[in-house]
Amino acid sequence: MSETCNVLVVDDEKPIREGCERVLSGKGYDVLKAENGQQALETMARQPVDIVLLDLKMPVMSGEEMLEIARQKYPDIPVIIITGHGTVDTAVECMKKGAYDFITKPFQIDQFLITVERAAEKRKLEQKAKEYREQNIRNLYDLHLEKSRIKTIINCMANGVMVTNRNLEVVLHNPALMRLLEKSHEIQNPVPVTEFFGDNEPLIETLKKIQQGKEEHGVAVSQEIHAGKKVLRAISAAAPGPDDEIAGTVTVLEDITPFKQLDQMKTDFVNMVAHELRSPLVSIRQLNNVLLEGLAGPLSEKQQDLLQRGLKKIDTLLELINDLLDVAKIEAGKYIQHQAPTNIDKIIKETVDLMLPRAQEQGIHLTIKTTNLKPVKADPKAIEEIFSNLISNAINYSPDGGEVVVTAEGLGEYIEIKVKDNGVGIPQEELPKIFDKFYRVKHPRTREVMGTGLGLAIVKAIVENHQGSIDVESEPNKGTTFRILLPAIV
Ligand SMILES: Nc1ncnc2c1ncn2[C@@H]1O[C@H](COP(=O)(O)OP(=O)(O)OP(=O)(O)O)[C@@H](O)[C@H]1O
Ligand SMILES: [Mg+2]
Repeated sequence: MSETCNVLVVDDEKPIREGCERVLSGKGYDVLKAENGQQALETMARQPVDIVLLDLKMPVMSGEEMLEIARQKYPDIPVIIITGHGTVDTAVECMKKGAYDFITKPFQIDQFLITVERAAEKRKLEQKAKEYREQNIRNLYDLHLEKSRIKTIINCMANGVMVTNRNLEVVLHNPALMRLLEKSHEIQNPVPVTEFFGDNEPLIETLKKIQQGKEEHGVAVSQEIHAGKKVLRAISAAAPGPDDEIAGTVTVLEDITPFKQLDQMKTDFVNMVAHELRSPLVSIRQLNNVLLEGLAGPLSEKQQDLLQRGLKKIDTLLELINDLLDVAKIEAGKYIQHQAPTNIDKIIKETVDLMLPRAQEQGIHLTIKTTNLKPVKADPKAIEEIFSNLISNAINYSPDGGEVVVTAEGLGEYIEIKVKDNGVGIPQEELPKIFDKFYRVKHPRTREVMGTGLGLAIVKAIVENHQGSIDVESEPNKGTTFRILLPAIV
């Protein structure tokens, strides 16, 4: 036997008790002894007993009496009755009352050992079964506890949580979601997601795409949605099932209305300041021009030089102000006024012509190549803005003597525009940020160039307002290529 097994031998005859002890301890059992039923019960109350060997005829308390009590108190402990030939009937009676087996005196050692071993085996199996049962109950309890813990966390979260299944039905939501969506009535899950959001809510489209695996694996999709007067940020991701397929979606919603209001206040303030600065600056520029043209009397060379330098600074400032106002207009959706069939070819050539002097100043070779172009539905002023920003960046961020190539090509339903330079390039990790407002890459070259980091934000907004797309490829010290696709009129 691998584990210890305590056998309690209950017999009033000392030789039997000791004989049993000898045989059993030789086989690895731990043996306890008692002279009668009373003593046996006391032992059982004191220490663990696995098997009882019980004589029937004993003084103080007989085996039968003890068996009855033991069956009630310790129903799991097998009791083997020791019986003489004369008491076999009683032994059978005892079996009916719950004894496990009986052996007759005088013992046949082999038989005796087999019986005890069987009882020990039964005891072991029953104990294992009991352990499993208890463990199972504990596991269920833990599971239940874990479930209620998660439920408490989700219910106490300040952010709204919504989980959908494969059919886009909501299977879990929390009170915060109801608060954010201003829903007062109880909703019993599962319900279609349209129960929470209107049919036209873009979030539903996003959830559909995630469910169909059309969004990049493992990437959360962030979007702003409106709920009454509130603006919410919804971050949605796929919920993987056990088979690693998409089992549903999880969305976390946060109220960002205060941030939006703050952002609006900031934008209003910047607009107001920009606007208020522009008129006096334009006047100063005009007055300086009057002076420069000698309309207020002749100027010395020194005076002319100073005025010219002043004018350059005023122009830079005016450019910044115009950029700020452009961004404000784009964000308010008021930038693109009239979209009409527009000839890109002409705009590129005019913009490049305007840029040529600057390029030449830096010894940069600026070339254009257009092929197969079709007109696009666009606002010419906005398209010009795209080219002037990209070409001016290409010139600004290239060393003297560099090369800038502008190409535009009709590709079926699209026209593809590329502005390629062999300048300083942009590190890979900076690429996603360069289209953000006011973002400038930290590079010695950027510090040499006057700029505010608004150019590319404007370009991207214009391209997107024309249902186009923009991307960039770049390698530090090798060069950068911006590529724009705009829908052509076919
Ligand atoms: N062709 C390019 N080559 C290398 N870096 C570039 C290029 N174009 C843009 N960048 C980087 O991206 C940043 C953002 O460009 P963006 O045109 O938005 O702003 P800017 O040129 O700094 O200022 P401005 O608002 O006057 O255009 C730049 O500061 C520069 O670091
Ligand atoms: Mg720029």
